Amino acid sequence: MVITFVGHGYVGLVSACVFAKFGNTVYILGHTKEKIDRLKTSDPIIYEPGLKELLEDNLKKKRIIPTLDYKSSVSRSDIVFIAVGTPPKNNGEADLTTVFEVAKNIAQNLKRGFTVVSCKSTVPVGTNQKIEQLLKKNKVKDAEFAVASCPEFLREGSAIYDTLNADRVVVGSDSEKAIDLLLKLHEPIPGKRVVTDLASAELIKYTSNAMLATKISFANLIAFYCEKTGADVEKVLDAVGLDKRIGRIFMDPGLGYGGSCLPKDVKALRTIGANLAVDTIFLDAVEKVNSLAKNNFIARILKTVKDKNVAIWGLSFKPNTDDVREAPAIYIINALLQNNFSLHVYDSAALGNIKKIFGGKLRYAKNPYDAVSKTSALLILTEWDEFKQINLKQIKTKMLNPVIFDGRNIYDPHVMKSLGFTYYSIGRPSVK
Ligand code: UDX
Repeated sequence: MVITFVGHGYVGLVSACVFAKFGNTVYILGHTKEKIDRLKTSDPIIYEPGLKELLEDNLKKKRIIPTLDYKSSVSRSDIVFIAVGTPPKNNGEADLTTVFEVAKNIAQNLKRGFTVVSCKSTVPVGTNQKIEQLLKKNKVKDAEFAVASCPEFLREGSAIYDTLNADRVVVGSDSEKAIDLLLKLHEPIPGKRVVTDLASAELIKYTSNAMLATKISFANLIAFYCEKTGADVEKVLDAVGLDKRIGRIFMDPGLGYGGSCLPKDVKALRTIGANLAVDTIFLDAVEKVNSLAKNNFIARILKTVKDKNVAIWGLSFKPNTDDVREAPAIYIINALLQNNFSLHVYDSAALGNIKKIFGGKLRYAKNPYDAVSKTSALLILTEWDEFKQINLKQIKTKMLNPVIFDGRNIYDPHVMKSLGFTYYSIGRPSVK
């Protein structure tokens, strides 16, 4: 098949590369020349394990064509995916400006004959109907089309794996022809097929992300109880998670959820609820606990650390990505800078992105050992493997005080005690 992806972020570029790998011809349509030129030279722009190699291979085999031109791409395509950003506006609502702009451009360039226009961007219920109206109003004569919603569930850091090993493929549409074509395109991908109406498909994506956020906030809430009672949150959740009805996965307590999806989608679902007169108290609480997770961590540091020369490991919103959007690190760094801390920071991939935000306000370390040198405490904000495997004895010799605040529970408190660290973690008794 010939397909076009409008947008080349995590969803657009990864999906485009995977469908190209299956032998389809895939146009990647962008609107910034510099970025399209970079894609043409196998630079994926974003950091994602395996993506550069996959892009390079597809380009070599001429299965991927990055372009700025709607005419040469959309007018040749059987399926056009909209995969552009829907960032939150100040009121939490998803900003759909780009989605609608793109829909209009697609309409004006549809081929004669039938095209499926499918939205992969996360959009509020009813958006695909609006896209349909826009397409109808602006489409070229003789073009036939059907809209569909085909949400994507990939995670950053494991995006290619997730796409190739999907739990489910959701296709929402009123058109059988569109459903058939999309199911055919997704044939090589495993997972259950869920064929549904447009509104349900739109809501499935928000519900998934809100449920994931809920699991994390619930784990953090239990961590607060543990900190007050001396219980160990990991033991509590391990035991609770053995109940097959509950499960342990995605209930790791820490500094709360960040990234470009969970915070945005919980906010958007709250706004959608408010607009529909659905009580949002439950999602309000999920967000509140998410903020508390960071604030409690900060409060403990402010209370405990006297010498404000401190190291930070981990800046990305989670491991295996350089993405710092809504990263707990940004919030925590800002709070500590306001309290006159001097911060020596290190991350396995995100230093460049953090530098763009904080510039000269931070000192940047070349490696984790360099970061802790002559500092009075170390804060761990992201659980990169590099930190789990570090030589802690060597770390201890470099620090002025062997004090660690671990926001991701990556070490065993007993081991830390035997090594002579003062070790604070989340929802577990501190060791000294
Ligand atoms: C998420 C969804 O998982 C994915 O299905 C969707 O398509 C996009 O949004 P992503 O944002 O890449 O993916 O990251 P994810 O792995 O879900 O982690 C989100 C945040 O939650 C991270 O900040 C992570 O550190 C945090 N998290 C995750 C926890 O604090 N505890 C956990 O148990 C799991």
